[in-house]
Amino acid sequence: MYKARAYSAASATSPLASTTIMRRDPTEHDVQIEILYCGICHSDLHQARNEWSGFLPTVYPCVPGHEIVGRVTKVGSAVTKFKAGDRAAVGCMVDSDGTCPECQAGLEQFCPNVTFTYNLPDKHLGGVTYGGYSESIVVDQRFVLRVPANLNPAGAAPLLCAGITTYSPMHHWGVTKDKKVGVVGLGGLGHMAVKIAHALGAQVVVFTTSPNKKEDAFRLGADAVVISRNADEMQKHAGSFNFILDAVSADHDINAYLNLLRRDGNVVLVGAPEKPFPISAFSLIMGRRSLSGSVIGGIAETQEMLDFCGKHNITADVEVIPIQKVNEAYERLLKSDVKYRFSIDMASLRAQ
Ligand SMILES: NC(=O)c1ccc[n+]([C@@H]2O[C@H](COP(=O)([O-])OP(=O)(O)OC[C@H]3O[C@@H](n4cnc5c(N)ncnc54)[C@H](OP(=O)(O)O)[C@@H]3O)[C@@H](O)[C@H]2O)c1
Ligand SMILES: [Zn+2]
Ligand SMILES: [Zn+2]
Repeated sequence: MYKARAYSAASATSPLASTTIMRRDPTEHDVQIEILYCGICHSDLHQARNEWSGFLPTVYPCVPGHEIVGRVTKVGSAVTKFKAGDRAAVGCMVDSDGTCPECQAGLEQFCPNVTFTYNLPDKHLGGVTYGGYSESIVVDQRFVLRVPANLNPAGAAPLLCAGITTYSPMHHWGVTKDKKVGVVGLGGLGHMAVKIAHALGAQVVVFTTSPNKKEDAFRLGADAVVISRNADEMQKHAGSFNFILDAVSADHDINAYLNLLRRDGNVVLVGAPEKPFPISAFSLIMGRRSLSGSVIGGIAETQEMLDFCGKHNITADVEVIPIQKVNEAYERLLKSDVKYRFSIDMASLRAQ
């Protein structure tokens, strides 16, 4: 074991603060990574503040972070995929049993024994796993990804969660050229969804509560932008969508989006707000509509997404911050004031 600098939350109400954590020495299958950048996902905030207590209660201290890009510093003797000096990335998972039907299907995110990058039991050291708000991490090579060389590392980090979470459902539900696709919430996930749907050739409509994001939405690849608080603007799109991705982090009315679907259309929730929503039966039964959900994506699909982004030169639009500004960044995330992902420069942690 060795000590690594990190930032952690000590309770649901305490700000993140500097600390040291223990990491394991790499075993034969492990890759040790010096973390260069880690994106700030809204899930980090939900988890640090124990907002998902009914689903996955937070164990403190909590070190969030699952959008990791770094450089390999050491590999175990059985590691074949990476060598010291390579660029490498880690997303939301660091382990799974590898044997269940979900793992066999390449859907490790649904494995009953999946280990998320933070806040799930650590099979090696006991306690829970600690995420990417840290100077280094040690991960089994099966869960380490390659980042195409043409992608800027600070902007590539958010692909590891925001990228795959939006790519996977579009892939699964067949978003292609000529499909009319809605994206609700122009945050970290939403802006990646716009870029990816546009690259897939879809007709993309952004729904936002922030009128000041309208120009950005067009620049990111939207064909139309709707201010969702304006009922007349919403009504113009009634019954017209094949697919709507809902990436909102807070309480809002889902029925308003179900009503915009055409026959057999689908609203896919990727946002994970704290409170449950009421759903009107009529929003679903009229038009044989579906409401679905999706969580991140499998490891092979994550690599496929990274390669797709490499080919299309897609990265997140990031505001790079030092880790000392992480609490301020959380407050801004709550005000939808980020364009469009914070990416922590981990040199700031090494320098302190
Ligand atoms: N399913 C998964 O695998 C997965 C993976 C990662 C994250 N998530 C979840 O997805 C959600 C979004 O994450 P993120 O990192 O993209 O968050 P984010 O950057 O904070 O973006 C959320 C966006 O939602 C909109 N919004 C916020 N409050 C709203 C309200 N009260 N009513 C309507 N719209 C509102 C805002 O967009 P506008 O300003 O455009 O309105 C905001 O930018 C979070 O709940 C997160 O935990 C799920
Ligand atoms: Zn995330
Ligand atoms: Zn499994």
